[in-house]
Amino acid sequence: MLNKKVEDALNKQIVIEAFSSQLYLAMASWCEIKGYAGSADFLYKQTEEERIHMLKLFKYINDRAGHAIVPELYKPPQDFTSIVELFEEVLKHEQMVSDSINKQLEVAMTEKDYTTANFLQWYVNEQIEEEATARHILDIIKLIGKDNPGGYYLIDKELEKIAAAKTVTTLNAVTTNPPAA
Ligand code: FEO
Repeated sequence: MLNKKVEDALNKQIVIEAFSSQLYLAMASWCEIKGYAGSADFLYKQTEEERIHMLKLFKYINDRAGHAIVPELYKPPQDFTSIVELFEEVLKHEQMVSDSINKQLEVAMTEKDYTTANFLQWYVNEQIEEEATARHILDIIKLIGKDNPGGYYLIDKELEKIAAAKTVTTLNAVTTNPPAA
């Protein structure tokens, strides 16, 4: 059974993952209306992925006899100055998510809840990938050069390829039978 401190920590992470899904949905929508179809594809997949991250926490908390709480919706920014600024925001956001995971992991370790610490390790690894993808996109943007004529078009074409290669995780794929509480 989860102790209250660990349960609260995991519920805090639910808020972060839910907001991530909201943020990427707003970003996808902005890209779509600005004509960045490749970037929109990538961000629509990302918004789904974040929801799965949130649901994985729901299943874990409830399986360990806690109560996963549906968070209130926070309205994310709706406008971005450029595709470059948008992806800089993605990286900053993912770094914040990594910090948050580390904080929740610290709570689990302090409370000697090694089962939860083990569960959170999945998120630690996921964050390595999430940050690396954001950095990779920013590297592509730098290589193409946003001031190149047609630069934004080429950047978006690269995002289209990244989106096509991205498979969205399913809840089943990320939910393993938890050990008995
Ligand atoms: Fe679930 Fe991108 O953090």
